[in-house]
Formats: sequence, C-alpha cells, structure tokens
Amino acid sequence: MWWLLVLLALLRCPSSEGTENSFTINSVHMDSLPKWTVPNGQNVTLQCTVDISTTAPVRPQHLVLFYKDDVVLHNVSSSQSTESFFISKARVFNAGTYKCTVVLNNKEKTTREYPLVVQGVSNPQVTLDKKEVIEGGVVAVSCSVPEEKPPIYFTIEKLELDTKFVKQKREKTSHDQNSVTLDFAIEEQDNVLVFRCQASIMSGSHVQTSDTVRSELVTVRESFSTPKFHISPAGLITEGDQLHIKCTIQVTHLAHDFPEIIIQKDKEIVNTTRQGSEAVYSVMALVEHNGNYTCKVESSRISKVSSILVNITELFPKPKLESLSTYLDQGEKLNLSCSILGGLPAIFTIQKGNTNVSLDPEFTKIATKWDSGTYSCTAAIGKVVKKSNIVQIKVCEMLSKPRIFHDTRSEIIKGHILRVSCQSVNGTLPITYRLLKASDTFQTSEMYSNEPAVFMDKPAKDATYQCTVDNCHSHSEVVSEVLKVKVIAPVDHVRLSILKSEEVESGKEMVLRCSVDEGTGPITYRFYKEKENIPFHQIISNETQAFWRKAQASKEQEGQFYCTASNRASLAPKSPQSNTLTVRVFLAPWKKGLIAVVVIGVIIATLMIGAKCYILKKAKAKQVPVEMSRPAVPLLNSNNEKMSEPSMEANSHYAGYDDVGNHAMKPLNENKDPLSSDVEYTEVEVSSVEPHQVTQRKTEAKIKPHPEIALTAGTNSCWPGLVISRQMRWGMGGGGPAAPLPLAELGRARELL
Ligand SMILES: *[C@@H]1O[C@H](CO)[C@@H](O)[C@H](O)[C@H]1NC(C)=O
Ligand SMILES: *[C@@H]1O[C@H](CO)[C@@H](O)[C@H](O)[C@H]1NC(C)=O
Ligand SMILES: *[C@@H]1O[C@H](CO)[C@@H](O)[C@H](O)[C@H]1NC(C)=O
Ligand SMILES: *[C@@H]1O[C@H](CO)[C@@H](O)[C@H](O)[C@H]1NC(C)=O
Ligand SMILES: *[C@@H]1O[C@H](CO)[C@@H](O)[C@H](O)[C@H]1NC(C)=O
Ligand SMILES: *[C@@H]1O[C@H](CO)[C@@H](O)[C@H](O)[C@H]1NC(C)=O
Repeated sequence: MWWLLVLLALLRCPSSEGTENSFTINSVHMDSLPKWTVPNGQNVTLQCTVDISTTAPVRPQHLVLFYKDDVVLHNVSSSQSTESFFISKARVFNAGTYKCTVVLNNKEKTTREYPLVVQGVSNPQVTLDKKEVIEGGVVAVSCSVPEEKPPIYFTIEKLELDTKFVKQKREKTSHDQNSVTLDFAIEEQDNVLVFRCQASIMSGSHVQTSDTVRSELVTVRESFSTPKFHISPAGLITEGDQLHIKCTIQVTHLAHDFPEIIIQKDKEIVNTTRQGSEAVYSVMALVEHNGNYTCKVESSRISKVSSILVNITELFPKPKLESLSTYLDQGEKLNLSCSILGGLPAIFTIQKGNTNVSLDPEFTKIATKWDSGTYSCTAAIGKVVKKSNIVQIKVCEMLSKPRIFHDTRSEIIKGHILRVSCQSVNGTLPITYRLLKASDTFQTSEMYSNEPAVFMDKPAKDATYQCTVDNCHSHSEVVSEVLKVKVIAPVDHVRLSILKSEEVESGKEMVLRCSVDEGTGPITYRFYKEKENIPFHQIISNETQAFWRKAQASKEQEGQFYCTASNRASLAPKSPQSNTLTVRVFLAPWKKGLIAVVVIGVIIATLMIGAKCYILKKAKAKQVPVEMSRPAVPLLNSNNEKMSEPSMEANSHYAGYDDVGNHAMKPLNENKDPLSSDVEYTEVEVSSVEPHQVTQRKTEAKIKPHPEIALTAGTNSCWPGLVISRQMRWGMGGGGPAAPLPLAELGRARELL
C-alpha cells in the first residue's frame, strides 16, 4: 500500500514542478577544439557549456544560440549541459568573433566573445592556356583558390626556369571571384618560363597568405634569330675597296611575315629592308665609313640588335687648302695652294663654291671684289677623291668718296627736322658712316647696302656737316665734302610798345615800337590800328625791332594798336601778332583851362540873358493878363505836379516837332524803355497851370524815357542866345532846375559847335 502512495507522490511532482520549481543559469562558456587559433584546413568544434541549477528533479530544456560576428549561426534546443557547432576544414572566412547564448524560460545568459583565428590560405591552383609560345606572343595565367571567398589578392610572377630573377610581376585583387586570369607578354630573352602564384586574404586586421604555387613550364620559340654581320672584303679594308656590310637573320616558319632589318651607322640609318632575311650596305670604302655599325631587327614587340666595328685603312690623308691671307684689299694678290701630307702623286683641283677655278694645286690672281667666297680643293688618287677644308676669302673694295646731301628743298627752319644723307656708291659692305657736325662726331650708322645712310638733326642755327665712311679696306676712312646748312629762325614773341607813356599829350611825339625776341632777317613789320585791316605802316628790316613815329600826336592817334612780324619761316596766312596797345591822347592842361574859362563865360552870359528875359516877361504879363489863358509854348517843367498844358495841343506839338522854339526838344529814343518812369522835364519857362491837365502830362512823361542831351537854339524873342539844358534826367520824385553839365560834356559840345 505505501508504494502506491510513493507512486502518487511521484505522479504529482510534474504538475507542481511548473509553478513551484525554480531554475537559474550559473554560468555559460565556450571552448574551441582543438584551439582558438587553427591552421587553414583544420576541423574545428565549438562547444557551448552551461551550468544550470534547479529544484526540479529533471533537467529542463533550454535553447542554445551560436553567434558569429553578432549574427546567429546555429540554434539548438537541448537539455544537455554542452552543445557543439562543427566547422569542417576551417577557411579564412570562418575566422571571426564567436559567442553563445543560453535561454531558459525568460532567463538568458551570454558568454563573452571568443576570436577564432584561421592561419594561412589554402594553396591556389595555377593553370596556363598554352605550354608552347612564340616570341612576341602572350600566355594567359589563371590562379584560383576554390575554397576561399573573395575578395582575394593575387600575385603572379614570371620567371625563367632555374633562376630566381623575376622577369615580370603582376598583381590583381578579385572582388567577386576566387580566381584571376592575367596575360603575360613573351619577350625576346624568354626561353623556358615558369609562373608562380600567391593568394592573400584580409582577415580582421591581419593578412593571411597562401604558399607560392608554381605552374607548369612554358617553352618559348624564337620568331627570328639575332642578326649576324658579314663584312667583305674580309680582313684588312683599304680605302677604295668596295665595302659590303651585310646583316642576316633566320625566321621561324611560325612567323606571319618578315621583320624589318635596319643597318645603322652610329645614329644614321644607312639601309633597311622589310622583305627578306638580309640587308646590305654597299659603298666604296673611305675613312669616313669607319665606325660602329648596328643591325636592328624589329617586329611589333620584338627587337633584336647586334653591332660591329668597321675599321678602314686610310690611303692618303685629306688635302689641305691654304691661303696667305683671307682678308684682301681689292688689287692685292690672291694665292691659294692645295697639298696632301706625304707628297703622294695626286690630282688636285681648286673650287670656288661648286665651280672649278683651277686644275692645279696652286691658284693665284689679282683680287677683285668678285673673288670673295668660299674655296675648297680636292685631291684624287685612283678612285679615291678627298675634299679639303673650306677657306673663306673676303676681298674688300675701297669705298668711293661719299656724297653728302639733304632733302630740304628750301631753307631750313629752326626746330624742323633735317635729314642729312650720306652715300658711298662703291665699296664692300658693310659700311660704317660717321656724320660730323662742326667737326665733332654727331652720329654713326652701319649700312649693309649701298643705300644712303640718313641722319636726322634739328639744327638751331647755321651748321656744317661732313661725313666719313669706313669698311674692311685697309685704307683709312674716306671723307665727304662739307655741307653747309643755313637755318632760318621764325619770328618769336612779337610785342608792341610805346616809348614814354601810353598817355600822349596832344601835339607831342608818339613812337610805337614793334619788336621780336628772335627771327632771321629780313623781317616784315606791319603796324595796325584796331579794326583796320590794312596796316598804316609797314617796314622790312634785318633788326629785331622796328619803329613808327608821329611827330605831333593828335586825337586822331588815340585808339588800340597792334603789330605783326613775319619772315620766310612764318607760316602763311597768319603771321604772328603782338599784344594790343591802347593809346590815349589828352589835351595839355593850359588848353583845358582855356576851354573852361570860355565855357564858364558862356554860361554866365546865358544866365544873365535868361534873367533879363524873365523880368521882361513878368512885366509884360502884368500889362496883358488876357494872354494867361493860353500858354505860349509847351515847355518842360521840372515839377510835374505843377505842370499844365492842354493835352491835345501838347500831343500835337510833340507829334509835329517841326514846331518852332523849345518844341524841338524831342526825345530821340522815344518809347524804347517802357519800364522807365518818373522822367523829369526841365522847363525853361514856367506857365500858369490848369489843374485838369496834370494827369495828361504825367502820362506823356512816362513814354519819354531816355535821358538826352540836346542843344536848343532859341528862336523865341526871349532867347536870342544859346540855351543849353538837360532835356531829361533820371530821377524819382521831384527834381530841380537843370544841373550844370560836366566839363567833358562841355568839351564835346564845344567840338560839335
Ligand atoms: C574532418 O572532418 C571531415 C568530415 O567533415 C572528415 O572527413 C575528415 O576526415 C576530418 N579530418 C580530420 C583531419 O579529422
Ligand atoms: C532556430 O532555428 C530554426 C531553424 O533551424 C528557426 O526556424 C528558428 O527561428 C531559430 N530560432 C531562433 C531563436 O533563432
Ligand atoms: C656600338 O653601338 C651599340 C649601340 O649604340 C653599343 O651597344 C655598342 O657597345 C657599340 N660598340 C662599340 C664597340 O662601341
Ligand atoms: C683600326 O686599325 C688600325 C690598324 O689597322 C688601328 O691602329 C686602329 O686603332 C683601329 N681603329 C679602331 C677604331 O679600332
Ligand atoms: C663705281 O664703280 C663703277 C664700276 O664698278 C665705276 O664705273 C664708277 O665710276 C664707280 N663710282 C664711283 C663713285 O667711284
Ligand atoms: C639784310 O641783310 C642782307 C644780308 O644779310 C642784306 O643783303 C640786305 O640788304 C639787308 N637788308 C636790309 C633791309 O638791311
């Protein structure tokens, strides 16, 4: 019966387990078998071990997650304390950071991170597209690492078999494949080749590298052989022999066409062929043909070279041409001689340029300018002809006497450019011209033709010129004639002045002087009075000044004067003109005094007559009062307010100014200034006033605006003499009787009378 109870207890356990049993993860850790650092290709087992405590009698199920670089790699549900993850043949891409996490119900625990390092890269495989290749061809080399993942960095090297010297190295990174194929050009030095490859992969911060793997062998076939020289004649070669320099090659049957064969002497190509397997350079042997000959054979990529030294024995040395002198004066003896060392019997010729001038080793003649040039000679023994050095001969013709002249047809004006030319017609060039001005060297010029040398000058005064010429001739320089040049100075700064004073007393002498600062004679002086086009005086003089005199000056000589001066250098049509001079002629003081006395006398007389007349009138008025109703004459009144006159009559008087008496005082410039106002009238006689006429007079006054001075000859019985009055006078408001005239006006008045 008790076992039944135990069984029941056991059966109850699981149901109470979910709610009452507790679990805890004590620790989790990882292990790698065999190690955390393994060589490439090793099997690796990663283990995750968990330690769990529980109150339950049965181990609970938990989840185990394997991570590589934070990415879940594998998960498993387990009740074991250890779970494994197997990596077969670890490669570089398996390297990384691993960890594992255990999850139990809602609890989880993660290990620290473990780095797995895979050392090395699995060996690459090298394959070739051919095992036999011709020079100039190409071999494609493939290298791959099938077990690894890109990016992979490949290095492929080309080597000659059994040497350690790398002929070519190429590198390439493959980003999306685990293989590369690279082409290798086959060169002329290649014979039996082998290629080797190495792969490298970046793992973390480290580079893992594979072993170096060699390819199979590649055999290289020549497309053509290295060129060979054949020189004939064999042995000693002497000048005059026919020399053959031949270059040959052998061409393989695999080649499509012949390569180019080039024979070079030093840098110069002497022969070339593209058609055959040989090239020949044939020439008569001379010492100049000595040298290093090169034969170059070239196809598109291949070039093969060989060279040979050719040594030719000299038959006789080069001839030498000599001259006693190379610079000769015309007329001297030209002597050229040609010779060879050792005195071998040879045939000589002497040439000037390309023309033979002598068939002898000597050439002698009297030199003329046409003998200038380059000379050489040749010497011939048998077929061997040799040319000498070049001798430059210059024969100098003496210069002819130079001609000196200038271009200016007329006289030379000061300040203008003068061109003096100098020309030596005959003589060897270049010619050095020297211009002398008053026996000093002024300018020099070198001419490369027989044209005249032109010198420029601006002579300020008369000058003499001479020129000299010189050239290669041994004779010293040749001198020209003397050229005399006359220079005319234009008149400069014309001035008019008066002797003594600009105010001349009438009756005294008046002298005007016209002067210039500078000017070559003869100079024409002209005196003008202003506004007159014709000069009143003209004189031609060699002096720099001229005068005009008037013994007794009068008012006629008053005014403004100027003068002109001109000579041959003056520019037409206007000759230089002087300043303007104002001359005033005045009266002597004693004459003025005399006039004043006369005038004052006249005035006094006039006043006296006027007073007399007034008294007479007054007396008359008392006797005949009827006459008062009609004013005898409309006279100007100094006081407007008091003026009276019948308007119609007054107007008619002004309209018809043929009226006698004081009516002749008509203003000359009537109505010219309508703005003027308050013009006063001077009245000699005062009449009675009629009030209604005042305004009429005022209006009339306004249309007679200008002041006038007039003389009125009195015809009235009261005015037997002369009346001088001021007819109008400017003024505002009231005026007085006529003001006395200034003295000057009196003077003028005197003249008018
Ligand atoms: C590595 O594991 C593979 C199976 O994945 C097995 O065939 C091979 O023999 C193992 N290599 C070694 C060296 O144990
Ligand atoms: C565990 O792996 C299975 C497939 O093997 C997958 O369906 C599941 O989602 C994974 N669980 C976790 C938590 O990654
Ligand atoms: C001749 O010239 C070639 C190329 O210029 C040179 O390589 C060679 O050394 C020279 N030979 C002699 C003997 O100077
Ligand atoms: C050429 O040969 C002569 C002898 O025949 C010898 O003296 C000379 O040095 C040689 N010249 C060269 C450049 O080899
Ligand atoms: C220049 O030379 C020619 C002959 O060449 C001669 O007729 C002429 O007179 C010479 N002129 C002068 C100026 O010497
Ligand atoms: C001016 O001088 C020249 C010579 O220089 C002379 O021939 C001429 O007669 C002179 N004229 C006068 C006006 O003196």
